[in-house]
Amino acid sequence: MSTITTGPDTAPSAAAGPVVSRRRARRATRVWLLAAGTLAAGSIVAACGGGAPATVAPTSTTAVRSVEEIERQGGAATVFNEGAGAFEQPVPGMDSQQRRTFAVGNSLFNQNWVTAPASTTGRDGLGPIFNAQSCSSCHFRDGRGRPPESADDPERGLLVRISVAGDDGAEPHPVYGDQFQDRALRDQTAEGSVVITTTERPGRFADGTAYSLAVPDYALITADGTDISGSLMVSPRVAPQVIGVGLIEAIPEEDVIAAEDPDDADGDGVSGRAHMVTDPRTGETVLGRFGWKAAVPTVEAQNAAAFVGDLGITSSLHPDQPCTAVQTECLAAPSGGEPEIEDDELAQVTFYTRTLAVPARRDVRADDVVAGEKLFSEIGCAACHTPTQRSGPSDIEALHEQTFSPFTDLLLHDMGPDLADGRPDGDASGREWRTPPLWGIGLVERVNDHTRYLHDGRARSLSEAVLWHGGEASTAQGRFTRLLAAERRALLVFLESL
Ligand code: HEC
Ligand code: HEC
Repeated sequence: MSTITTGPDTAPSAAAGPVVSRRRARRATRVWLLAAGTLAAGSIVAACGGGAPATVAPTSTTAVRSVEEIERQGGAATVFNEGAGAFEQPVPGMDSQQRRTFAVGNSLFNQNWVTAPASTTGRDGLGPIFNAQSCSSCHFRDGRGRPPESADDPERGLLVRISVAGDDGAEPHPVYGDQFQDRALRDQTAEGSVVITTTERPGRFADGTAYSLAVPDYALITADGTDISGSLMVSPRVAPQVIGVGLIEAIPEEDVIAAEDPDDADGDGVSGRAHMVTDPRTGETVLGRFGWKAAVPTVEAQNAAAFVGDLGITSSLHPDQPCTAVQTECLAAPSGGEPEIEDDELAQVTFYTRTLAVPARRDVRADDVVAGEKLFSEIGCAACHTPTQRSGPSDIEALHEQTFSPFTDLLLHDMGPDLADGRPDGDASGREWRTPPLWGIGLVERVNDHTRYLHDGRARSLSEAVLWHGGEASTAQGRFTRLLAAERRALLVFLESL
């Protein structure tokens, strides 16, 4: 129960640290900031308690697969590494040239970009306004970000997209654009800071076990101290782990589209539709695959958008800095090159991210993992989190025509009002989200030292992540709350084995 206030952050060269003051808040509410920000450990759902009978369909027969086939959830792109480096591994089977490109891409992903002009011209061009200095400051160890936990928290894993209502639904804000950059170079003004306030919402499983969900609220405080969130559509998002994106990219578009059921013709309450978007390289309309709303079609497009939006690094795909027409000081800042990242470097980062391997599953023969996997299908989770996909042809051997288990259909689903951000993104509505892949989810804690899930990291455990499901997932969520304690635990242990 504290209110934490910081001013917007500046680049490290600007030396001045954030101004921090604290005072007591009146209600059972925690406030913290993005530029530094958090959540003390809240009540995690207890995984025990007696039980009301669960409504679970009879066990279906699962195809017999060998232990190794089950473990290899990334097909030939699987690595057997369950340590803190589990998300950083190259896919097996690359030649020496490919491994060199991976290594160069890795360093571009991890290096801190600096203010232009600098003697190290290969890595200048940061900002003028930005959210982080490197890709890895949000995707630490190629993993997942989380909301900040206190005013002193240097965590950079969350960013905030914004829009205002316009003729076409949502338009960039005339002053702040479509992303709230909370940091700036010396002599520049950061757009402001993000204040997150959470309120606990208690609930109970059918067996009486109590849980509590932390309902977040986001205020955007500009440099002059005004909260502009009321006049905006605000979409906070944490950085997901980057593993397996090459496989996701190689799934034939028609396979994803074939699974659409926009009008719920089969009447199971789950519809799902493909998010068709424009490929910035070709101008063609193609399937969106990446990001929390599947608004981005390719790994290259995602990376180029991250360079300009998150770091302020221009590329041939995004030649303009993230400044709006009225941000004159931002527009006048020195450039680190035209563009700031060359095409060959962008290609190296793209190769690197595309060839990040998927860690193998663990404990796949344990009784509760096997029981949990059955429950996952039976209570309807697999209707969206499609266990198996197949890739088409790829010039990277480990990605070529593989059968793998991302646990996603890559489709958009209406997840109900509680998860809605109210901000349309491309053709995705303010209530729709892409089913996220679940592979690697059981290793997030080991890699990133936290257990925060969902698009804005609001869930503090896997159980909370499931409890937040609504909309098309209401039936599955309801069944989850009616499981016996032992079944609930089995389902969660299964998720931890991914
Ligand atoms: C400020 C934090 C932040 C930084 C810095 C950042 N990212 Fe991200 N990254 C995100 C967020 C948030 C998403 C989800 C975006 C969305 O929903 O539109 C994401 C998504 C991605 C994805 C898609 C993953 C998926 O499963 O859909 C890739 C690939 C990626 N980022 C690569 C990069 C690269 C390369 C860089 C450096 C140029 C980078 N990111 C820098 C926050 C960040
Ligand atoms: C109607 C489709 C749908 C169904 C059914 C569904 N999910 Fe999800 N799931 C999603 C979407 C979409 C998200 C992302 C929502 C968000 O971030 O706001 C998600 C998120 C998750 C996450 C967090 C993932 C992450 O990367 O943070 C977990 C864990 C999860 N689901 C497990 C389950 C389980 C277990 C079930 C069955 C009880 C289930 N889901 C049923 C669509 C679905």
